[in-house]
Parts: sequence; C-alpha cells; structure tokens
Amino acid sequence: MIIRSADLEIVCGITSEIPDTDYPEIAFAGKSNVGKSSLINTLLNRKGLARTSSQPGKTQTINFYNINQTMYLVDLPGYGYATASVEIKAQWGKMIERYLHTSKQLLAVFLLIDVRHEPSDNDCLMYQWMLEQGYSPVIIATKMDKISRGELDRNIARMRKVLGTKEDTVILPFSAQTKQGTEEIWRLMETLAFG
Ligand code: GTP
Ligand code: MG
Repeated sequence: MIIRSADLEIVCGITSEIPDTDYPEIAFAGKSNVGKSSLINTLLNRKGLARTSSQPGKTQTINFYNINQTMYLVDLPGYGYATASVEIKAQWGKMIERYLHTSKQLLAVFLLIDVRHEPSDNDCLMYQWMLEQGYSPVIIATKMDKISRGELDRNIARMRKVLGTKEDTVILPFSAQTKQGTEEIWRLMETLAFG
C-alpha cells in the first residue's frame, strides 16, 4: 500500500468516549513491550510516529492513526505491564475491553506475541476472545530477528500448541528491525479492509 498520509488523529484515554469513526479499524493488541507501536511505525514507514520505548508501558492511551483517509490502525496499551499499579492496570484493561466491545468499525484484531516466549495466559484469553467475537484472528510473532530460523519454526509450533490455534489461524513472523513480514501483513490488512 502506498502511504500518502498517516496521522495520529484520535487519542483515547481512560475517561474518554470511544470514538465513532468513518473508516475500518485494525487494532494491535498484546503484552507490553511486545512491539505494537514499532510494528505500526514499520507498516507506515514512519520512524517515531508511534512512540516506542524499551521500558514496558509506553503506550497508555488508545491511538488511532488515520491512513490515507481510508482506514485506521489502532495502537492499544499493552496488557500485563507488571510494575503498573493494580488500579492503573485495571483501568487500562477496562479501556481496552470497552474499545473492543463498542467499536463499530473494528474489522480485525492482530494479536502480537514475542516469538521468543511462550504465550501467556492473557495471550490465550485474548485469542479465545477474538474467536468468540467472530474476528478472524491474526497472530503476529514479533522480534523474529532475535532468533534463528530453526528456533523460529519450533517456537511457532509451540505457540500454536499453547494457544490451541485453529488450523485457519494465520501466524505471521515479523521483525521491526529487518522489516521482514511487512508486505505479508499489509497484504492481509488490505484484503480485510478493502476485499
Ligand atoms: P507498550 O506500548 O508498552 O505496550 O509496548 P509496545 O508493544 O508498543 O512495544 P514497543 O513498540 O514500544 O517496543 C518495545 C521495545 O521492543 C522497544 O525497545 C523496541 O525497539 C523493541 N522492538 C520492537 N520490535 C522489535 C523487533 O522486531 N526486533 C527487535 N530486536 N526489537 C524490537
Ligand atoms: Mg506501544
């Protein structure tokens, strides 16, 4: 996809209303630090548009990036950010849940999981939720640059087993560092959004 414009248009905090937008939305969910904001920057080829950090808990609002006035990429706060207070964690959780349940334009949720690690209980819950809501779940195995090819295959097989993925669930390996996987993810997003 040729990116003519990519703008952070809506920022939604814990007290904000979930916006009613005019275009299809694709949201990126996953544990803190898994690489959601980095993935968005890579997809948009804009370094630093979505703020990233080596410290987990960087994204604390729901950020809507308007792409070419045709669709939104939605950057969610991470879950399982261990050092946040219980109260803050609960508020973020509720905000994410509120978004996932009330958005009228949400087309798909991409679940990001660090390919080095076994999926967590929260990852499994999110995957189940996606299935229950009828979204065709897409899993992005992030940070693939950090492991060897052999390990990648093994870890993706383990990911499938732990999540109990259905056969038609796509797992796409990705690296924000090498940009591997970018085209495949765009192809999938364009098919979802525009048929
Ligand atoms: P929260 O906003 O806290 O939920 O995190 P996030 O999921 O948005 O993660 P973010 O994109 O901020 O990335 C977290 C850290 O991982 C940063 O230091 C990134 O540079 C690094 N990172 C992200 N993707 C990759 C990748 O594909 N490869 C490598 N090596 N590092 C990555
Ligand atoms: Mg982030």
